[in-house]
Amino acid sequence: MNEPSPRFWEIFFEVYENLPRQGPGNRDCAEKALRLCGDLPPAPAVLDLGCGVGGQTLYLTELTSGPIVAIDSHAPVIARLQAAIAERGLSQRVRAIVGDMARPEQPPASFDLIWSEGALYSIGLRNALHVCHGLLRPGGYLAFSDAVWRRENPPPAVKAGFDLDYPTMGWLDDDLTAIRDCGFKLVGHFSLPDEAWWDDFYTPMEGRIAELRGKYADDIEASSALDRLAGEPEMHRRHSDFYAYKFFVARRPLAQSLPG
Ligand SMILES: C[S@@+](CC[C@H](N)C(=O)[O-])C[C@H]1O[C@@H](n2cnc3c(N)ncnc32)[C@H](O)[C@@H]1O
Repeated sequence: MNEPSPRFWEIFFEVYENLPRQGPGNRDCAEKALRLCGDLPPAPAVLDLGCGVGGQTLYLTELTSGPIVAIDSHAPVIARLQAAIAERGLSQRVRAIVGDMARPEQPPASFDLIWSEGALYSIGLRNALHVCHGLLRPGGYLAFSDAVWRRENPPPAVKAGFDLDYPTMGWLDDDLTAIRDCGFKLVGHFSLPDEAWWDDFYTPMEGRIAELRGKYADDIEASSALDRLAGEPEMHRRHSDFYAYKFFVARRPLAQSLPG
């Protein structure tokens, strides 16, 4: 597949920034993952890495009662989340900041819960797990979602689709090994159900693409970018048996056992 042009990325952001979220997930899955974090303090300090416009950050404001820091490197999504936070009167509790999750500039061992839906892979999963380990208090939890392959030999369109954004995508066992190698203890994992792909993500995405098709009816380059973006939900309709999104919950052990 061709390397996307700057114009493609413009249209990409015009579609994505207006969605309720920028990847698969929903409130039920957030609640299920949070239930696996069985030993959190009553008002946990939460860090949401790669928060996007904050679909899950806003669920977390309802499902937890402590301070939340939400970080994303893309300034327009942080501006949108800041507006949502202000509108809900949550500015004292939730801070949304532009930053790089590889260098989040947060104090070490200061969070009870790190949350990250569909974002850790952006800096390499193992690298991200090391960063999270250092930011969590001993006994703190990491809840994150990640795409994994489910079947060998995906059709070329599926392979090309993931190669564009997710060239390092592995298998469930690769993620489980990375979690263990990076010093975490796995608490549990589950697959996102199909509605978590559609309700807040692909259905609004298809709606937004349809809206922009009107706006760009006479613009060949924009229309071809929209065709390419429309391919993703279509690929999911046909080929979702080749891949899955997994939610993982892991814990930084209370005391790290010494080697030997
Ligand atoms: C697939 S989206 C998921 C967004 C959101 N968590 C959700 O599930 O709706 C991945 C997000 O990670 C952000 N991101 C990518 N690399 C990043 C980095 N190095 N530091 C912070 N955010 C990053 C992107 O800007 C994007 O908003």
